Amino acid sequence: MNMRVSFCCADTHAQPWLDGLRAALPQAQVSLWKSGDAAADYGVVWVPPQAFFDQQPQLKAAFNIGAGVDALLRLRVAPTTRLVRLDDAGMAAQMAEYVCHALLRFYRDFDAYAQQQTQALWLQRKVPDRAEVPVGIMGLGVLGEHVARAVAALDFPVNGWSRSAKQIEGVRSFAGNDQLNAFLAASKVLVCLMPLTADTRDLLNRNTLSQLQRGAYLINVARGAQLVEEDLLALLENGHMAGATLDVFRTEPLPADHAFWKHPKVVVTPHISARTLRAQSIRQIAGKLLAMERGEAVAGLVDSAAGY
Ligand code: NAP
Ligand code: GLV
Repeated sequence: MNMRVSFCCADTHAQPWLDGLRAALPQAQVSLWKSGDAAADYGVVWVPPQAFFDQQPQLKAAFNIGAGVDALLRLRVAPTTRLVRLDDAGMAAQMAEYVCHALLRFYRDFDAYAQQQTQALWLQRKVPDRAEVPVGIMGLGVLGEHVARAVAALDFPVNGWSRSAKQIEGVRSFAGNDQLNAFLAASKVLVCLMPLTADTRDLLNRNTLSQLQRGAYLINVARGAQLVEEDLLALLENGHMAGATLDVFRTEPLPADHAFWKHPKVVVTPHISARTLRAQSIRQIAGKLLAMERGEAVAGLVDSAAGY
């Protein structure tokens, strides 16, 4: 098989990826893309420049080395090039760790204990009944479902919201815009795990967040543009929201003078809730690429019309 694979990933140290892809696909010529390159069969990409797709319209598929494809879908891509996202590849376990950590930190008041320690203050705080802390997961896809199951395993009541209704043990399913208000009203902790699309941009705003139960907590691990940041700040100010753990922001890196950095009720992390794991991702991409060559169906094809 004389197959060419072109690697074009912004902000990524290329050499280990090239080495890994060459080892996983010994039958392929794998190269780092540069303008003017010969036509390739497949692309492995992360936020490539438009020129990549303009010069490679013959690609059979482009494999995104992340789960979210919002940046990819902003580009013009030939209709014959299939877009494939990473599905899980080690991200679901990381997401579950991150969300459970943030949830328990809030629920068990660990920030208050850290503060008390600075004053040598021995004070035992009330543990609320879990029934009073229902967790709502927005997005029940590859990552959201795994997170929902992990939170349910900790015995919290779990609500899930998605476009289509789901049957997941321990999760009360809400679906579509008609059930959004009921989902929000039934939730105190809100976890955002939706893809960024025209429908989900700015969806976490004063109106929606106000419908959460009072003293609500937000965990955003999806995309920054889904949250209207000033609306969250206003709701933290008036006490409706108790706090937030934010991993993603409208501008990344988060500017040094942004209010979130020093806000006493906000925990900031630098877009690390679920990192791309190179070895697992290469294994998944190589497996799917070879399946496509054999004419087999693969999981994780992007539906450009739906936007994810
Ligand atoms: P996924 O498998 O595509 O699942 C998306 C889920 O969102 C699905 O359940 C889908 O509903 C639901 N959804 C989409 N649009 C909706 C809408 N308008 N209303 C209600 N529900 C909607 O995605 P995933 O792999 O779980 O990843 C989710 C997102 O996490 C990614 O798109 C990415 O932005 C983000 N992410 C962040 C990090 C990080 O480090 N911070 C890492 C990885 C991923 P249906 O099931 O009905 O289709
Ligand atoms: C990271 O944010 C991803 O979408 O994989």
